[in-house]
Amino acid sequence: MNFSPFDLVEWQSRHEASSTYSLADSGCQPARLSDVVSDPADLEEMLNVDQGYGDLAGSDLLRGHIAAWHGASATDVLVTVGGTEANAIVLEAVVEPGGHAVVVMPGYPQLTGCLNNRGVRVDTVALEEARGWQLSIDQLMRAVRADTRAIVVTHPNNPTGAVLSEHDICALVSAAARVGAWLVVDEVHRGTEAAGAVTSTLWGRYDRVVCVGSMSKAFALPGIRIGWVVAPAALREQVERRHHYATIAPAKFATAIAERAFTTPVRERLLNRTRRFVRVGSDALRVWVDASDGLLSMVDPVATASGFVRYHLSEGSLEIADAIRRAGVLVIPGAHFGVEHHLRITHGVEPEYLAEALQRISAVLGGLRRCSR
Ligand SMILES: Cc1ncc(COP(=O)(O)O)c(C=O)c1O
Repeated sequence: MNFSPFDLVEWQSRHEASSTYSLADSGCQPARLSDVVSDPADLEEMLNVDQGYGDLAGSDLLRGHIAAWHGASATDVLVTVGGTEANAIVLEAVVEPGGHAVVVMPGYPQLTGCLNNRGVRVDTVALEEARGWQLSIDQLMRAVRADTRAIVVTHPNNPTGAVLSEHDICALVSAAARVGAWLVVDEVHRGTEAAGAVTSTLWGRYDRVVCVGSMSKAFALPGIRIGWVVAPAALREQVERRHHYATIAPAKFATAIAERAFTTPVRERLLNRTRRFVRVGSDALRVWVDASDGLLSMVDPVATASGFVRYHLSEGSLEIADAIRRAGVLVIPGAHFGVEHHLRITHGVEPEYLAEALQRISAVLGGLRRCSR
């Protein structure tokens, strides 16, 4: 069977350490342990947590917090090693090799990669840039068939930052319900909105919804590698069996950090911190795009710490991203999301750092534009 490598992660892992500026992570500037644990008594308590395996499905306390984040019950929650493990084991549980799945694209490439590597037949449905990255309902209607086992969507969307309209969400739910397919929703970026309310979870919209979440984005704690699955009991059990093979249990120290991150007032501090980065960063990215004299365009991201910027040059995105990398800045070529002539650029970093990195990107793109005239 052909193996699809995870090009996005390989690109980052190959070049991140040697880049002067990284605008490649989809999350904002990570928080520090001291942003979560600052009280000496609490720190002492953490130092005394025994480092056994802990609860294999995650501690009751953490599962309760996660359940509240989705309006679910703790028995629906399985804690995993990042959203990455969660996505992998959910897809394994919902669709067999040779089965059929529909994936909304662009989306997080792990999802399509896992399905391809499992020998699942995948049809895609586009988010249309010209319509603000909203769903092509026509394509959805054509793609979902009687034997479709899963419809998979990244929401809020990485790389575009789009949030689906209520109309599109209803269309997804009814398409899934029509054939009894699972609706697999990667909600890892929920809580990273620049303004307004937290994007509604799709949990509870239909009896075959499964949601994936993570501490990596809204809580800005990617290094603790804590994610989760929220699934109805029977599926949760199937997913948990795969979790035993994949990782056995989430790390106990990481669990202790996540429990604290979900507790008032740390929770509000972390969520507000992320929103601040996203708000300031997305405004700066918009100003930069507007100043490009038609070289760049972008549908403003509603959520996530990055923007999916279109450049109006003929070169492919791998070539452009490589030229930018040689100028010291790492961004993600749109090709890694299956969308050419785009770059995913992280804006949720310190403003001066962002400004310097964007200036370098402008110099590279400006040079290429002069050559093409
Ligand atoms: C949409 C999406 N899903 C899943 C993941 C993986 O998350 P984690 O860091 O929790 O493994 C990411 C990471 O960038 C992501 O952007």
